[in-house]
Amino acid sequence: MKKNLSNIKKAINYLNNGDCVAIPTETVYGLAGNAYSDKATSKIFKLKKRPKKNPLIVHYYSLKALKKDCYLNQNFLKLYKKYCPGPISFVLKLKKNSLISKNVTNCKKTIAVRFPKHPLARNLLKNLNYPLAAPSANISTKISPVSKRDVEDEFGNKIKFILDGGQSKIGLESTILNLIDKPQILRLGGLEKNKINKFLKINTKISKENTILVPGQGKIHYSPQIPIRLNVIHPRQNEAFILIKKRILSDKNFFYISKNKNLKEAAKNLYKTLRKIKKMKFKFIAVEKIPNKGMGETINDRLIRASKY
Ligand code: TXA
Ligand code: MG
Repeated sequence: MKKNLSNIKKAINYLNNGDCVAIPTETVYGLAGNAYSDKATSKIFKLKKRPKKNPLIVHYYSLKALKKDCYLNQNFLKLYKKYCPGPISFVLKLKKNSLISKNVTNCKKTIAVRFPKHPLARNLLKNLNYPLAAPSANISTKISPVSKRDVEDEFGNKIKFILDGGQSKIGLESTILNLIDKPQILRLGGLEKNKINKFLKINTKISKENTILVPGQGKIHYSPQIPIRLNVIHPRQNEAFILIKKRILSDKNFFYISKNKNLKEAAKNLYKTLRKIKKMKFKFIAVEKIPNKGMGETINDRLIRASKY
C-alpha cells in the first residue's frame, strides 16, 4: 500500500513534468500523458509510432472534470450511472473552450472519454488537475499489454515510469460507444454489447464504416505478427493451439485460456497467452472455435483482426 502511494507520487511528478508514464487499467495498460498538453500528447504518438490521424481516449476521474471538456447527453448519463467506472468509452461532442490538446482529437469536434476502474488509475487521476490521454501501451497495431512486464517488452527503457498494478482484470480494451447521435458501438470490448443494447433498449450493430469512424479499428490490429488460423478442431504439429475447454488428450503445444469455456477468463488470458506463444518462437497459431456470445464476441473480433496478418 505504502509502495503504491509512493509510486503514484512518482507518476504524478513525471506527468506534471510533461512526460508519459504507463498506467494500469482494468482493461489493458495505457500510455498516459496530460491530455491538455501538446508536448505530452505528441510524445505518446511518437513512442507508439501511432499515425497522427488516430485520436486518443481521454481518462477522467469525475463527471465534474469531464463537463469542462464535452457536452453530456441523456444516454451518456444513464450509462455512466450504471457502468462507470468501468470498461466503456464514450464518443461525445467536444466543447469549443475545452483545453484538450488538438493532438488528442486530431482536430475533430468529438472526443472519446472513459472512467477507468482500476484503483491505482483512479487514485492517480484524483490527484491530477488534468485528465489523461492514454492509448493502449503498445507499439501501434501490436498486442495491448496487460501487465508491467508486457509494457517493458513493448518499450524497453523508452518509457520513464510504469505504474505496476498487477495483471489487468478484463484483459481486452474498452467497448467504444458513439453517443453523438443514435448510439452506435464502434469497437467491441470489455463491456458486452448485449448489456448495452438491453440497457438502452436498442439494437446497435457494429457499423460497417467502422474503420472510417474509428481510425484505430484498422483491419490488421492486435497482432502477434504470427499467422493465426481460427475455428480449428485438429491443430497441425507446428502450431501453438489455443483452447477454451480442457481436452482428454493434451499436448505440450496446447495453451488453455480457459479450462471450461469461461469467456471472461479466456478474455483475461488471451493477450498474455499470445505474447507467451510469440516468446516461445512458434511460427503458427491455431485457435479452437470460440462461442460468439458475451465476451466471446470481443475475443473473436480481436482474433479476426489478428488473423489478417
Ligand atoms: O481500454 C481501453 O480503451 C484502453 C485503456 C488504456 O483505456 N485504451 C485504448 O486506447 O484502447 P487506443 O488508443 O488503443 O484505442 C482507442 C480507439 C482507437 O481505435 C481510436 O481510433 C478510437 O478509440 N477513438 C478515439 N477517439 C475517437 C473519436 N473521437 N471518435 C471515434 N473513435 C475514436
Ligand atoms: Mg490500442
